[in-house]
Amino acid sequence: MSAHPTQLMSLSQYLIEEQLKLPQATGDFTALMSHLVYAAKVVSREVRKAGLLENILGATDQTNVQGETVMKLDEYADKIFTHTLTRCGHLCVMGSEEQEEIIPIPTGYKIGKYTIAIDPLDGSSNIDANVSIGTIFSVHLRTSPQGTPGVKEDLLQKGSKQRAAGYIVYGSSTMLVLCVGKGVSGFTLDPSCGEFILSHPEMKMPESGGIYSINEGNYDYWSDEVKNYIRNIKSIEGGRKPQSLRYIGSLVADFHRNLLKGGIFLYPNDTKSSKYPKGKLRLLYEVAPMALIAEQAGGMAVTVEGKRILDLEPEELHERTTFVVGSKKEVEHFLTFIKK
Ligand code: AHG
Ligand code: MN
Ligand code: MN
Repeated sequence: MSAHPTQLMSLSQYLIEEQLKLPQATGDFTALMSHLVYAAKVVSREVRKAGLLENILGATDQTNVQGETVMKLDEYADKIFTHTLTRCGHLCVMGSEEQEEIIPIPTGYKIGKYTIAIDPLDGSSNIDANVSIGTIFSVHLRTSPQGTPGVKEDLLQKGSKQRAAGYIVYGSSTMLVLCVGKGVSGFTLDPSCGEFILSHPEMKMPESGGIYSINEGNYDYWSDEVKNYIRNIKSIEGGRKPQSLRYIGSLVADFHRNLLKGGIFLYPNDTKSSKYPKGKLRLLYEVAPMALIAEQAGGMAVTVEGKRILDLEPEELHERTTFVVGSKKEVEHFLTFIKK
């Protein structure tokens, strides 16, 4: 028996209720989220028909600041999110994985008090394979004077100060997972009415889990500590049950599965090549937002040296970091392998 529509809470209603909890709230944040959600719906529609439109699959002839081939859907998603959000009147500046420099508010548009750093399309290598991909975003309050054009420093704030963080996973359904301060909630897009409906209230990451996610192909590049940890969780010594390896290659999808089922995700740095000496994942718009969601859902998020992700002070827009995130007990077990 499906719930009566009056029993379902839409994302719009959820955001209004969250706003009412803050007496000093002006409604700016709620409005900002509504513009972000609109852009997410447009991208979701395009993702869902990507296979049917030859002009949206495949690669462009460009490489982005990351030195990676830009997929057509990367470019499309970047355009939708940056065009919509820089003109909504609630941002002072934006940062995007697909754009080297900060993205200013176009002349003639109102300058707001928030910033957004975004990974418009996460998991690009999976687009043409019809595997789950996503979008990741991080919201901060500006630190530079109100009304002036935003600057890079407005974006370079540590993860613990995020006003909000979230991701959209374009999977078997389109889900938005959101933290607007305290706790984590999940919303599933009902395509029949175009609304995100609260389907996963108060999401909690299981305290332990039987899944580990890491690109084992990089084994020879790992530090001895990471190798020892991975060997340990795969071992059947002493009659132990080895953990299962699940690796999709889209951070959003690997993270989302571990959030629901419990487990650990690792992207260590390369110790024997110059490819990813500091790790591959980007702090501002992949790792910090996921770390806030993980902690707010009862999990943990650290670097391979054991530093708390949310305490890292960003110095560059596209800076990379190592990332170990997941169930509290699994991350604590990992930390026992890190040289004190
Ligand atoms: P993006 O598509 O935004 O560049 O992100 C890809 C990232 C992340 O989604 C995933 O966890 C990781 O790259 C996978 O990297 P490998 O293919 O090196 O394992
Ligand atoms: Mn990404
Ligand atoms: Mn991306």
